[in-house]
Amino acid sequence: MVSQVLVASNRGPVSYSVAEDGTLTAKRGGGGLVSGLSAIGQDADAVWVCAALTEGDRAAARRADGALPAEDTGGQRVRMLDIDADTFAGAYNGVANSVLWFVHHLLYQTPLEPVFDTEFERQWAAYEAYNAAFADALAGDAEQGATVMVQDYHLTLVPALLRERRPDLRIGHFSHTPWAPADYYRLLPDAVAADVLRGVLGADRAAFLTRRWAEAFAACCADMLGARVDGADRPDGELRVTHAGRTTRIGVHGLGADAGFLRERAHRDDVAERMAALREQIGTDDSGASRRTIVRVDRTELSKNIVRGLHAFRRLLRDRPEWRDRVVHVAFAYPSRQDLAVYRRYTEEVARVADEVNAEFGTASWTPVVLHVKDDFARSLAAYRLADVALVNPIRDGMNLVAKEVPVVSDAGCALVLSREAGAAAELAQDALPVNPYDIAGTAAALHTALAMPFEERAARTERLAAAATALPPQAWFLAQLDALHTP
Ligand code: G6P
Repeated sequence: MVSQVLVASNRGPVSYSVAEDGTLTAKRGGGGLVSGLSAIGQDADAVWVCAALTEGDRAAARRADGALPAEDTGGQRVRMLDIDADTFAGAYNGVANSVLWFVHHLLYQTPLEPVFDTEFERQWAAYEAYNAAFADALAGDAEQGATVMVQDYHLTLVPALLRERRPDLRIGHFSHTPWAPADYYRLLPDAVAADVLRGVLGADRAAFLTRRWAEAFAACCADMLGARVDGADRPDGELRVTHAGRTTRIGVHGLGADAGFLRERAHRDDVAERMAALREQIGTDDSGASRRTIVRVDRTELSKNIVRGLHAFRRLLRDRPEWRDRVVHVAFAYPSRQDLAVYRRYTEEVARVADEVNAEFGTASWTPVVLHVKDDFARSLAAYRLADVALVNPIRDGMNLVAKEVPVVSDAGCALVLSREAGAAAELAQDALPVNPYDIAGTAAALHTALAMPFEERAARTERLAAAATALPPQAWFLAQLDALHTP
């Protein structure tokens, strides 16, 4: 089996808040990587290298010279890098979240943006320095022949930088986002576009959530670097990109939901309490029947398309008066990336449009849109369990785990309205109601079909969706990547 495994990601498995008296409190996060890495067991020699994101993180990182105490991390060895705050901001807010994220999710309003000028040059230099800091830390911590699994768009330069420093290592890169189509990727300055591709190609194997994103990456390599792409006809479907005398394998691993964890967690008392509170808020219609629910749960993220979701709900109420008083749109939109002005404005827009819909249709006894913005995992699970319809309509999304989690925990079956631009559509489209995320009329029509779907059909579809959604749970997803890295 594999010897030492190192994981590198911007956001680590733990974060710290600092109280006024200077005390630090650690909070452990969840997600696919955390449970994936647990597959190799506590005894295995695994190290997670991540960046300090907040002042609390920085204090914790300084206190322990980067190595966090085991009691904060649940035993996981974590090394948190205290990267200079300006460098971090330029790399994370400037390049990763405002440029690479925008390119891969097609988020620019191109008549006015992007503008690549001196400010961007400064941020790009910060991104290079931040990637070099990770490469240095990994090169310093890795044992001879260790395996390094580098994550996401924050760290695209790391594989090549690390290979220069440590040619003995096995290096994988995994993209949790979509990859931009070649014509859109060319928005980036040529040198930057090429550096990002060459950086990822420094890995032995670069992996993606769906075939579509893997092919887009290979197409960008062919277009910008003149790389050779083969393998489309291989039985394992693995593409090969050859550039400057080296070949990088391109893999696909569609992260699935963790059924065991979700079902157990969703049946604890705190979730039951929140279900009761939500039912109270949703209420009953004029005839005394429980109202139907259209649920969405997202970070307040530009790519999630929350505002158009509200427009579609409004269109449903306008076009189909029979649903008035009989349905509630339960929208959870949790704060994200609030350092960026465009995210703050988007957050305001979500609240504004929700208010507009409530002002247009609400009555003394019916609030059409129930919007919650405070992150509460137990309440999210409560909403999953009682949803009649789940609305997952991103502009573009690497996978979208909400689409996979809802069918797994749904109590009585839930119809899934799913953007065809979400990676999850590759596995779930057959039993979901696929939509073009820009098309308000089409989304409203799908919401109507979903609400009107007979309960037996809904339950049967949900069962099939849950099976597809759990085909590759986090631990198997992680082990499959490790295995593939070690198979020639
Ligand atoms: C996406 C990215 C992750 C990131 C997460 C939350 O899922 O692929 O790398 O951690 O968003 O974003 P944040 O900027 O808060 O870490």
